[in-house]
Amino acid sequence: MKLLVTGGAGFIGSNFIHYWLKTHPEDEIINLDKLTYAGNPYKDKENELKPLNLKDTEKDNRYKFIKGDICNLQLVEEVIKNNKIDTIVHFAAQSHVDKSISYKDDRIKDKEKYKVDPSIVRLFEESLEGDFVLNNVWGTHILLEAAVKADNIRFHHVSTDEVFGALKLDSKGKFNEDTLYNPRSPYSASKAASDHLVRAYYTTFGLPVTITNTSNNYGPYQYPEKFLSLAITNLIQGKKVPIYGDGKYVRDWLYVEDHCRAIDLVLQKGKIGKTYCIGGLTDDVNNLELIKRVLKIMGKNENMLEYVKDRPGHDRRYALDWTKAKRKLGYEPKFDLDTYLKKTIKWYQDNEWWWKKLIGEKDHQAYIKKQYEKR
Ligand code: NAD
Ligand code: TYD
Repeated sequence: MKLLVTGGAGFIGSNFIHYWLKTHPEDEIINLDKLTYAGNPYKDKENELKPLNLKDTEKDNRYKFIKGDICNLQLVEEVIKNNKIDTIVHFAAQSHVDKSISYKDDRIKDKEKYKVDPSIVRLFEESLEGDFVLNNVWGTHILLEAAVKADNIRFHHVSTDEVFGALKLDSKGKFNEDTLYNPRSPYSASKAASDHLVRAYYTTFGLPVTITNTSNNYGPYQYPEKFLSLAITNLIQGKKVPIYGDGKYVRDWLYVEDHCRAIDLVLQKGKIGKTYCIGGLTDDVNNLELIKRVLKIMGKNENMLEYVKDRPGHDRRYALDWTKAKRKLGYEPKFDLDTYLKKTIKWYQDNEWWWKKLIGEKDHQAYIKKQYEKR
């Protein structure tokens, strides 16, 4: 296979590329990523920007990195044609819920920086760094256009359970492939729109698509702004873990390598035009229970928790029913939550060089200050 992986520099994309090179030695991968902060760029000896998360694969001749924007149709078409791509696995997105909320304040405060260029063409070619609709909806639209024109391209779209909205804390219900969409944050709304576009290109143009809606991922290379990566890196530094609201929010925690394996199964056995929900748990675990497991593994006590103001519009509960993926694809998580939490904690303990570079960056420090100190 010749894969075009979009957003391969980010958390899940880089884990996917590591996984694929290991498990499919005969395949080639092109990674197209515009290297936002989440793509974790570094400058090599020639002063070129490259993804740090994939530094160890740079010399692998089955892998090539192209710095570019999925919103640029001409570029996407060239990449597909020049590299004889037969499969697209689409991860690229602005993916952080808290930033999809705070982006509004940045735009109000810094009007000059976020001024929309009068030339609509330039706007779409070099999409605004943090805009959720441009990157997630328009970007997906451009990729679909390029895939339809190229003919014979398999398109796999990576999406989220957040498109389904929120469940009640005391309900037993779970999201599944038939749940109606009800997104509640700018991030989930933009992902919902992109899912609809992907399905429309299947129905209207016969593009061979598949979609996975997955739950909260965790594991190596996760930017320390998400709950688990932030909590673990804070605890290693002796800092407290911020708990939004009462902490009784439920997420379905999925180890990132299980997610990568699930996409592999969908590419091999998934039915064209179909959606698969991929989760990591079967029982509810709320944020407090999750973090108490982390504290126990790391030998810390509950004084390390700090309750902070809640997130606006905070979704109470996500729970995914992944029985279809189990039945049709043979998917299930390989290990249990505690085993994966231990593995994840160990990775952050062994790879301080990786996250210390990120937390040292000016933009990240400004974000943390704004998000937590002024809450
Ligand atoms: P991430 O933020 O770590 O990485 C996203 C990557 O996309 C970055 O490398 C960024 O540079 C790149 N990117 C963004 N806009 C781009 C553009 N216009 N052109 C080219 N590259 C661009 O995100 P992640 O957590 O790895 O998530 C990957 C995908 O999985 C997203 O589509 C997200 O919606 C989905 N997802 C994530 C989770 C999760 O828990 N992290 C759960 C379910 C679904
Ligand atoms: P997050 O990792 O941001 O993922 P998502 O919003 O996509 O679910 O948050 C996971 C849960 O943890 C969510 O209920 C919000 C909560 N949370 C905190 O309590 N404290 C934090 O510092 C962060 C980042 C999240």
